[in-house]
Parts: sequence; C-alpha cells; structure tokens
Amino acid sequence: MRFTTRQIHSGVEPDPVTGAILTPIYQTTTYVQKSVDEYMAKGYSYSRSANPTVRALEKKLTDLEGGADTTCFATGMAAINALFLAMVSAGDHVIVSDVVYGGTYRLATKVYSRFGVDFSFVDTSNPDEVERSIQENTRLIVTETPANPTLKLTDIQAISDIARAKGIPHAVDNTFLTPYYQQPLELGADLVIHSTTKYFDGHNATVGGAIVAGTREHDDSVRFIQNATGTIMSPQVAWLTLQGCKTLSVRLDQQSSNAMDIARFLESHPKVQRVCYPGLESFEQRPLAEKQATGFGAMVWFEVRGGLEEGKVLMDSIKLWSLAENLGSVESLITHPATMTHADVEESERQRVGITDGLVRLSVGLEDSRDLITALDDALGIR
Ligand SMILES: Cc1ncc(COP(=O)(O)O)c(C=O)c1O
Repeated sequence: MRFTTRQIHSGVEPDPVTGAILTPIYQTTTYVQKSVDEYMAKGYSYSRSANPTVRALEKKLTDLEGGADTTCFATGMAAINALFLAMVSAGDHVIVSDVVYGGTYRLATKVYSRFGVDFSFVDTSNPDEVERSIQENTRLIVTETPANPTLKLTDIQAISDIARAKGIPHAVDNTFLTPYYQQPLELGADLVIHSTTKYFDGHNATVGGAIVAGTREHDDSVRFIQNATGTIMSPQVAWLTLQGCKTLSVRLDQQSSNAMDIARFLESHPKVQRVCYPGLESFEQRPLAEKQATGFGAMVWFEVRGGLEEGKVLMDSIKLWSLAENLGSVESLITHPATMTHADVEESERQRVGITDGLVRLSVGLEDSRDLITALDDALGIR
C-alpha cells in the first residue's frame, strides 16, 4: 500500500474489546498477570517498559520508515541520548554533522564530554572529510539532513557506504523531511532519529521522539536504554501523535508548497539579502535534494539587509507568524537560531558553520501562503 494509506492504517487495529476505531489511551501503570509465569498479553508488565498506545505508534513509525522496529521516547533529545548510551562508551569517538540542532550539540559537548566520549563535528556534506575523520575508536556517525537551521544536506548513501565499510553504525536525524519525503534506511543508514514533536505531531501539541532501527539488534540495544533510563513516551502523547501521523503527507505537501511560494517571494524582495530553500534554483545542493528526497520540506531561512538589527525589527513586529522555537506545526513560526534554538553553540562555532546572527528561520505552516506573504511583506516594510 502507498504511504498516504499506511500513515492512516499501519500499526492500529480496532480495539478488540469495544471495536473503538482509535487505539485507546492505555492510561495504566501496570498490567495484571494471570499467574507468576503468565502475562495477560505478552510484553506488557509495567508502563515504563511498554504501553499499548505507545506500541501502536512504534509499529506505525516502523512501517513508515521501513525499519525492523521503533522505540518511542519522551522527547527527541531523549531519543538522541538513548542512541548515544546504546552505541558508545567511555573512550569512544563519535562523528556528528557540524550543523545539527543546538540540543544535540549541547548534549555532546556539555554532557558526554564529561564521561570520556570524544566528538568530532564534521562537515558531513563532504564524504571525504567524514572518511578522514574516522578513528580507530569511532563507534557512531550521526548526520542531520537537512540540517537545522542552515539546511545543509548530507549524502545519506555516500556516508552510509563509508560507515558500512568500516562497520560503524550511521544514524540519520530525519526530523525535517520525515519518511514521507526521505527514507534513510533505504539509502543504507542503520538508524533513524525523529523529534516527533515536529511534523508527526504537527499541531504544537506534544513533545516526543523516536528511533527507528534497521535491525532487531539495534532496536534491542536502544529499547534496553529506554527502559533502563525511564524515558518512554507517555500514552497521551503517543495517542495525539497517532492522530497527527494520519495527515502527515497532506500537511507536508501543502506546507512545502507554501514554503516554495514564500522562498520565491523573499528572493524577489529588495530588503532580503539571501534566501535559502532546497527547492530554489539558487540552492547549491539542489541535485542532492532531488536525488535523495521526494520533497524539499517546509523550512526556509533568509537574511535581511542590515543584518541582525533589521532582522530583529522584522521578528519583533511580524503579525501572523509566531516568534517561537518549535517547527513543523500547522502554525507558521519564525525563529532566531543564534539566540533561540542554537544559543548553546559557541559563537565562533556558529560563525564557522554559517549560523549567522542575521539568520532568520521560518517553519512554514498550513495557513494560506498569500496571508503569510502579506505578513512578511508588511514586516519587511516597517523601516
Ligand atoms: C532536527 C532536530 N532533532 C532533534 C530535536 C530535539 O527534539 P525535541 O525538541 O523533541 O527534544 C530537534 C528540536 O528542535 C530538532 O530540530
């Protein structure tokens, strides 16, 4: 069956007791056993370890990404933390894309560095540089593509080939495009990371995360950490995310179409210095975007002439767009990464990887693109 059908039906069945079409929110801590040796339903003993509502979402995400199994977490960061805990130990080395979500950078540099894990932030858009950065003790490669916030792309297949030749697992953060537009496991990656907070939820309602593993062994390692550290997603969040999944493709197609309209508008505006959107002809890595994904996504960034000062005027005065940290929701959001999502990345590192002070990030929502453009036009015209 096609993606749009599977996003609705995969992983869920009518409730066996009542016939309810939606998987119920199994709000329970524990599950009564038939006897010391026998559970009522296999796999359910305590909701830190497994919960039927969460399990339905895990099955759906597994099907959508084409994996062996999925483990869902309380947040995207809990998922990334579990990935590190499952894959590396003190003395190991990890390669991470030099442009990643600020929280991933913070976790690596401010937490794992205390436990003797060494990280290299590498330009993963250059496979040769990745190959050169591999050490004897490299145990994991993590790429984020498109990267938050610069939208730099990594060639998933090229990095997966390098990683596989050296026996190193390659995990891809697929939050920006979702399996609807990009399927990292098919391109050779071993694990896929998601902040389900973004497009899977899509309504600014929850925080959640997931790791889809390509093999049972990797899923077992990740699930063991989920249970050991107590970071499972809650059943309410899983239920809301299950509903969000049903409209994923429809939202993403419309939001991406809106993003294209907005990127073109910004490109033609005299007050805009630079616009970045993978669907624009001016996007340097557009051939790669077309090769490994079926859509360009709904994230755009631009710089206003006059830099940070003028950018601030725009962000402080714009109507309709909310100045906020999230992305991927039906509500359009405007963000200043240097002071918001990437504030914990040192200034020198931000400058090195292109997260300039003047960069304004847009998460394009589902409103009418003409209204979104009018609001941008008005805000750009303030001075
Ligand atoms: C690409 C990416 N990965 C992971 C995360 C972390 O997810 P969460 O905020 O759900 O912890 C984010 C959050 O913005 C993100 O943008």
